[in-house]
Amino acid sequence: MTYEVIIPAAGQGRRMGLGKNKLFLELDRLPVFIHTLTVFENDPNCNGIWLVVSSDDKKIMDELVKKYSITKVTALIEGGAERQHSVYHAVKEIPDDTIVLVHDAARPFIQTEQIARLTKVAKESGAAVLAVPIKDTVKKVNGELVVETVERSSLWAIQTPQAFRISILKEAHERAVVDTYIGTDDASLVERLGQAVQIVEGNYDNIKLTTPEDLYFAEAIVAKRKKASNV
Ligand code: CTP
Ligand code: MG
Repeated sequence: MTYEVIIPAAGQGRRMGLGKNKLFLELDRLPVFIHTLTVFENDPNCNGIWLVVSSDDKKIMDELVKKYSITKVTALIEGGAERQHSVYHAVKEIPDDTIVLVHDAARPFIQTEQIARLTKVAKESGAAVLAVPIKDTVKKVNGELVVETVERSSLWAIQTPQAFRISILKEAHERAVVDTYIGTDDASLVERLGQAVQIVEGNYDNIKLTTPEDLYFAEAIVAKRKKASNV
């Protein structure tokens, strides 16, 4: 099941607090976004990578893509003010009649097996997202007062990749522009069309590097995978 992938990498990483894009941080001697790109480079089902970059980072990211022999980058696309704008800039360029995945550059631990299961469901249903059941109890709060405890069994933490028929994702982004709607993920735009979005159970390792403490988890995941590949 082949696909195109959009990789938004045009953020600033403000919550990581480094004063530079967190995607340049090195994990196991490689920049974070190179880990992410390498997964898709090595997946035979991936036809092309649409890497969305900020104007500040474009030159250095382009150099690093070449240095680490990532050959599937079809285009470097200029990012926008919000993640959604960055994704839309790429969505407009993708050819018709394909499955497109959107995957955060900041999630370097994605694995081919999850991508394959997700892509299959999106091909059948039109829209699918990777997700894991929430482990914490979640309460709705107003000020400092608990309003209610939300039933946990129906709560899932949504990750990327998210996979769509390109026609559906294009329509969803176009509708969001008309409505000046900004969502925190692509599936939320698709849900607004009334299109069903399928959940595909993922893996708790597929973390997004967001705040400094995520780096401890990242180092632990790297160590675990190295150990597993050495036995
Ligand atoms: N992203 C993007 N364009 C933006 C904002 C974010 O392409 N205008 C990308 C980021 O580079 C990242 C992904 O979207 O790979 C998920 O965003 P997030 O984790 O929020 O990263 P940042 O926006 O960089 O971080 P922060 O919100 O802390 O500034
Ligand atoms: Mg952000």
